[in-house]
Amino acid sequence: MTERVLLVGGGGREHAIADALAGDCQLYACAGNRNPGVDALADDFRQLDTSAPDAVVDYAVDVEATLAVVGPEGPLAAGVVDALDAEDVYAFGPEQADARIETDKTFQRAFMADHDVPGQADYETFDDSDAAADYVESVDGDVAVKPAGLTGGKGVRVTGDQVSKAEAADYVRTAGHQEWVVEERLVGEEVTVQAFVANGDVRPTPAAHDHGRAYEGDEGPNTGGMGSYTDTEWTLPFMTDDEYDACVDTLEAVVDGLPSYRGVLYGQFMLTADGPKVVEFNARFGDPEALNTLPTMETPLLDVLTAARDGDPLPDLEFADVATVCKYAVPEGYPTNPEGGTRVTVDESAFEDANLFYASVDAREDGVYTTTSRSYAVTGFGSSIPDAEAEATAALGDLPEGLRVRTDIGTRELLDERVRHMRRVRGD
Ligand code: AMP
Ligand code: GLY
Repeated sequence: MTERVLLVGGGGREHAIADALAGDCQLYACAGNRNPGVDALADDFRQLDTSAPDAVVDYAVDVEATLAVVGPEGPLAAGVVDALDAEDVYAFGPEQADARIETDKTFQRAFMADHDVPGQADYETFDDSDAAADYVESVDGDVAVKPAGLTGGKGVRVTGDQVSKAEAADYVRTAGHQEWVVEERLVGEEVTVQAFVANGDVRPTPAAHDHGRAYEGDEGPNTGGMGSYTDTEWTLPFMTDDEYDACVDTLEAVVDGLPSYRGVLYGQFMLTADGPKVVEFNARFGDPEALNTLPTMETPLLDVLTAARDGDPLPDLEFADVATVCKYAVPEGYPTNPEGGTRVTVDESAFEDANLFYASVDAREDGVYTTTSRSYAVTGFGSSIPDAEAEATAALGDLPEGLRVRTDIGTRELLDERVRHMRRVRGD
């Protein structure tokens, strides 16, 4: 039987998911924006509000979907999986209650404490912004302040790094959120470890390193992610095998505590002097990390999804032994003051060894134009991270005025700096 798969979401991550599924099934897609990459791969594409569960369910029924895969956190938070369940359409993604591991940072930390999940950070939670701000001013040491709800990766402020404690307290008082988590500031390098999860099985994927900050040298505001890399190994040049295993142990402990969890479980960790500590969990693939992981996954994605639905053991995952570097082209001024409306000129037919993934763009009659969020990404492949970086940079070509990338992601200089930093952190 040919599966009829509904893909929910229209970002770069969903373009990568569509790419991994195309040719193996009938593909139907829906998103708020018409992603030209997904549109080209799908048998049908419908523009709809993916945070409206009924609209997604109606489309799933119309196309007689035999399974669904939900990319972004918005539809998970809105209960799209629960609504599809109610129509007997199996969706690979957590139900709303399980997605709280991402959508409610208060739940995230309390869950870790209740279930002794390894990698916990010191934290306090508040349901009143003044009390949270007073605490920030009075507590010893640097902190990270986080609104409890979803903020697209842009709500966190870290003292001693981005802001002073007085500025953090002021931000907490005025940002308009009531519920806050205040955590100890974790010091080290960040890594992402993601796993496919269903029926209690956890199948991890290679570690990735994302770059959240907008500008070269990790300067500027936090973004949704400017680019990321993976190595030929499952670890990274500044990550040990033991650290990787500890990250997987943490993901497994989450699933032990949430046995109904299904979908991708994303762990973001700080490699500290005391081992990996959890920065956050996401209830879905990372974007950009999916753009590294899915193109090199040799196990068909469809096999993972159907095994999950059918209650079969999830297949062991195979990955090509290649390094990948993904870079996002974003509008000038992103994320604080983005200028959209630039015509995209990237030419995929000229790529040697790279993939193009469209994200938040507007496909018009006369071409593809940028909006105010991340526009498109290029993933390069190579026998080392710097080789893959060179491929990605060559494929990106000369960017039109109005678009920029972070030039340092995946370069030898930045990698060496991360390795030196981890040596200092570990006291080697
Ligand atoms: P989040 O939205 O939780 O991923 O946080 C966004 C970014 O803030 C992370 O990628 C980290 O760089 C930083 N961050 C979050 N929590 C902490 C923490 N406890 N210590 C240091 N940095 C943090
Ligand atoms: N790369 C960070 C995220 O997907 O949230």
